[in-house]
Amino acid sequence: MKSPAYWNALLYELSVKLLWRKKKSREILRWEKARQWIPKASNVVEVAAGTGRFYLEMLSHHVKSYMALDINPAFVENMTLKGIPALQTDLRKDPIPGADVVVMISALYHFKNIAPEFLKKLQIAARDRVIIVEPISQPLDRKSLYDRMRAKLVDIGEGPIFQRYSKEELLGLCEKHAEILHFEPLPDNEFLIVLCKKNHSKDL
Ligand SMILES: C[S@@+](CC[C@H](N)C(=O)[O-])C[C@H]1O[C@@H](n2cnc3c(N)ncnc32)[C@H](O)[C@@H]1O
Repeated sequence: MKSPAYWNALLYELSVKLLWRKKKSREILRWEKARQWIPKASNVVEVAAGTGRFYLEMLSHHVKSYMALDINPAFVENMTLKGIPALQTDLRKDPIPGADVVVMISALYHFKNIAPEFLKKLQIAARDRVIIVEPISQPLDRKSLYDRMRAKLVDIGEGPIFQRYSKEELLGLCEKHAEILHFEPLPDNEFLIVLCKKNHSKDL
């Protein structure tokens, strides 16, 4: 069953508010750190964009153009109502439009079982760079009620997601399948990764 946090934009934003309630300044800091790597007046595509919070808080006056992609129709509808260009997209199979910068925040673990191809797809879409902010965690424990709830919270309707990245896995994945321009720890066990354009034409 789809997580209640993904039923609609209101419930999602309420859940996020609860998660960050005592550390709003750190949430802003991670966004600011990510924005530092987005050249002013770039064309940006944000994948797995949720309800477009990063755009509204940080990018609306910074970028030349922006497109949000997300699989959740309720989120896409909400972004459209808010005036954010958004497209319902299943990133596993639909194309990603080209942009100077492709951004993804807190979502790489959704694609862990297809990580190398997925990373390649992001790099092909990015004319200049890919920016990823990703939480780091031990794999979630199926025996722990708390971890089962965390896994359920990000269920898009295809089952709870127990997989997460350790720092070593994340770094290893990026080193193997991309060229890392910047790798930086953020507060709250997250990492900011900036990947530069890599030519994958030989792989196609
Ligand atoms: C934890 S949320 C993060 C959302 C947003 N980046 C943020 O920071 O608020 C993960 C997002 O990934 C999206 N997602 C998961 N699987 C997807 C897929 N296959 N294609 C597109 N979006 C997907 C979900 O709908 C959700 O909006």
